Amino acid sequence: MITGFSKLTKIEKINYISSELFNGSPEVNNILSEFWHNDSETQKILEEFSENTISNFHFPYGVVPNFNLNGRNFIIPMVIEESSVVAALSKAAKFWQARGGFKARIIDTQKVGQVHFTWSGDAQRFEKYFSNNKTRFLEHAYQYTKSMEKRGGGILDIHLKDFSALEENYFQLFVTFETCDAMGANFINTVLEALGKFLAEDVKNNVFFNDDERDVEIIMCILSNLTPNCRVEAWVECSIDELNEKSLGMSPKQFASKFKRAVKIAQIDTYRATTHNKGIFNGIDGVVLATGNDFRAVEACGHAYAASTGHYKSLTNVIVDEDVNTFRFSIELPIALGTVGGLTSLHPLAKLSLRMLDNPSARELMMICASVGLAQNFAALKSLVTSGIQRGHMKMHLMNILNQLGANDYEKNKIKNDFKDKIVSYNDVKNALLTLRDHH
Ligand code: MEV
Repeated sequence: MITGFSKLTKIEKINYISSELFNGSPEVNNILSEFWHNDSETQKILEEFSENTISNFHFPYGVVPNFNLNGRNFIIPMVIEESSVVAALSKAAKFWQARGGFKARIIDTQKVGQVHFTWSGDAQRFEKYFSNNKTRFLEHAYQYTKSMEKRGGGILDIHLKDFSALEENYFQLFVTFETCDAMGANFINTVLEALGKFLAEDVKNNVFFNDDERDVEIIMCILSNLTPNCRVEAWVECSIDELNEKSLGMSPKQFASKFKRAVKIAQIDTYRATTHNKGIFNGIDGVVLATGNDFRAVEACGHAYAASTGHYKSLTNVIVDEDVNTFRFSIELPIALGTVGGLTSLHPLAKLSLRMLDNPSARELMMICASVGLAQNFAALKSLVTSGIQRGHMKMHLMNILNQLGANDYEKNKIKNDFKDKIVSYNDVKNALLTLRDHH
């Protein structure tokens, strides 16, 4: 047991780990320091994002060109370690570039926060108190919301929710916010804590209440990551005849019909829906990470929304209408993002990603992320219902296998070439490498 670990210097922390777990070997320091940024200022910025930072964990930072959204061409930055994701997205981008591109629209941008509290008494009386005093709550919050209001945001509304039938004496202030280009977590939590304090104080002193009604206990004040009304729709659309790529190995009609089944399956079967939506988040998370946004918040919200009918299902939908020769593939989901504040303006690569995307507003970034999620899902389903996923996946994974086996550049090139038309498996690659080495 060590106390005061966070107060140690970085080197002292590393020495501690090294002596506790690696017999004091210098290897730990060597590995960790290899990944420090060579500019100490930048390293300091990275370290200060979190506590007890001893190094940086590198992930690939890739780009997808030719991504056409609402008539504009983007180069999409992606942070993702899974080998086939960027390649799959690039293919989908190219496919839809030739068929009108992606379209997206914002449905709404409301964020949510809650003050959870208990109060004992007649709920209807509390409702009356709250509706008589709601404007005082808003007035009190103004000192915290005024700069956000100047930017066009602030509190949209406050509702009192009575949950006392489910949990004794439990109520909520359910607060909706507009946070403009900020993700808004800190702003929302600050306002909620101020509202919570005001509520407890006001109930204690308000003449409306009798002496036995003055006790509010604030349980907690926190934003909700479920933001169903911070929602975006993205879609692609073409005639069925235009789904005529040779590599599909089937007619456009057949492809459309199999694709439709694949989406339907993800709407009825939760096991499939989970993987289907995971593939969507392969794309969304890549952009969310590259732009310094909170991918855990985005994932939590997306999955909760996918289960909002009580049955977890696909976030995408498809309409195949043979009568009017139309294929329309769409996604609708809530995503809470920021393009100012937080990591977005601190992490050098997050800043670069945003510049690469032409400094989008939060609304624009929502549309980009939704379209990328849709494109990723299109790419996955297209492979799944045609060649199968392993062909492309293992081809991309070949490099990882070769690296794991310690292949040199000559061996990598030779084996990559040999496996151009073959199915990749770890054992086959290993055997090919051994044979190649035998020959030399
Ligand atoms: C792999 O990371 C994602 C897929 O499994 C998604 C899907 O099955 O739709 C390919």
